[in-house]
Amino acid sequence: MITKPKGTYDVLPTESRSWVKLESTIRKICEIFNYSEIRTPIFESSQTFHRDINDTSDMVTKETYDFKDRGGRDITLRPEGTAGCVRAFVENKLYAANPINKLFYMGQMFRYERPQKGRMRQFSQFGVEALGSSSPLMDAEVIALGATVIKALGLKGVKVKVNTLGDKESRDAYRNVLIDYFNNYKEELCPDCLNRLEKNPLRILDCKVDRHKEFFKSAPKIKDYLTDASKEHFAKVLQALESMNIDYEVDDSLVRGLDYYSHTVFELEVDVPEFGAQNVIGAGGRYDSLVKDLGGPETPAVGMAFGMERLLLACDLVGKKLGKPKFVHAYFISLGEKAYQENVKIMNVCRLGGLYCDMDYNSRGLKGQFKAADNNNAMFTCILGEDEINNNVINIKNNETDIQETISIEEVYPYILKYINSKSACGSCKEKEVK
Ligand code: HAM
Repeated sequence: MITKPKGTYDVLPTESRSWVKLESTIRKICEIFNYSEIRTPIFESSQTFHRDINDTSDMVTKETYDFKDRGGRDITLRPEGTAGCVRAFVENKLYAANPINKLFYMGQMFRYERPQKGRMRQFSQFGVEALGSSSPLMDAEVIALGATVIKALGLKGVKVKVNTLGDKESRDAYRNVLIDYFNNYKEELCPDCLNRLEKNPLRILDCKVDRHKEFFKSAPKIKDYLTDASKEHFAKVLQALESMNIDYEVDDSLVRGLDYYSHTVFELEVDVPEFGAQNVIGAGGRYDSLVKDLGGPETPAVGMAFGMERLLLACDLVGKKLGKPKFVHAYFISLGEKAYQENVKIMNVCRLGGLYCDMDYNSRGLKGQFKAADNNNAMFTCILGEDEINNNVINIKNNETDIQETISIEEVYPYILKYINSKSACGSCKEKEVK
């Protein structure tokens, strides 16, 4: 038997409804916030991600799927959505048409990580990128959008952790102090951190190996090295979060795992003990130099991304069922060969009218066909035999009211529609309404 590659998974029919519901919730909220969808390739030329030889993030240095295609080009499967979005923004000159571009995306990402609960090698992200504004209110908007998605999914116990990395001047001042500080502990740093000490000492603070060591706790904090402009930016972000009633916690050890951030960074964590170590469901921040680094004009930007599997896992753990159960308006039961042919015709009329329908195709017995109607959560069961065909009638049973009637074959579609419309008029059947 051929099995799926390590770190991947199949979304089975019993699970795909939750995905559809998650995706439609996200789409709706992005619309509410006026973000437009962008779809970029799953693979990009490697330099989209491997831009900077000084990049110290694990994602870029250790986790990308890189290969040469048959034409000898260096290709990378996207490990995240931001760089591809920015590449598309620059290549298609989106900045020329609109001063502010608010984009969202959903799709598969690939990282060669050690698989565990909530951490896969192929996973899905939903992300937003707001390009073209340096306003702290935009940082707050992106966080608010994330918080709104979480709320719409019915998740509680989510913590918004936020910090600032300041502007370049703040980070340069902080960088020097950090280098001096960690130089005193060189022997205790892991090889990755020794490398980061040279290239990007801020990233040491995010080290998965060293982070819990005692000397980390007394490391200097960025907040003591912020310029007045950086302090003001961060204060305005927090003020906007407060005015939108978004609970947050300033975490001055938060630096994030990617090298492109400046000013605001944030993470959203779920407070569900069963979640395990991978409890960060979404994260992001401001990245004011990335557009320029990818060859575009200087453009401030801020964004975030959620792990969609982690969102679904969180819903599952708190008992939130997403998505409607399997459902048909009508299930057609056939007794005898002629009935099968006739049911195909009746069902087709109903389907063309927009009703969800199905029937048996395997000449199952009556019991088996009734069971199938049940498994499909049928609103109506229509039973047709040879006698009925001869009299141009069909037996129709409303499974919600238990009323069974014999009606003419032509009446099936209007009969079901009438019932659905009467229910939607009284508001009890929003879910099953025919569009
Ligand atoms: P990130 O923190 O690397 O940020 O990923 C964002 C989210 O993707 C994580 O919080 C997590 O929920 C999910 N995630 C990451 N890796 C995995 C994995 N191996 N398996 C399952 N889920 C995973 C970014 O990707 C940035 N591009 C976010 C951003 C957008 N910043 C600005 N704009």
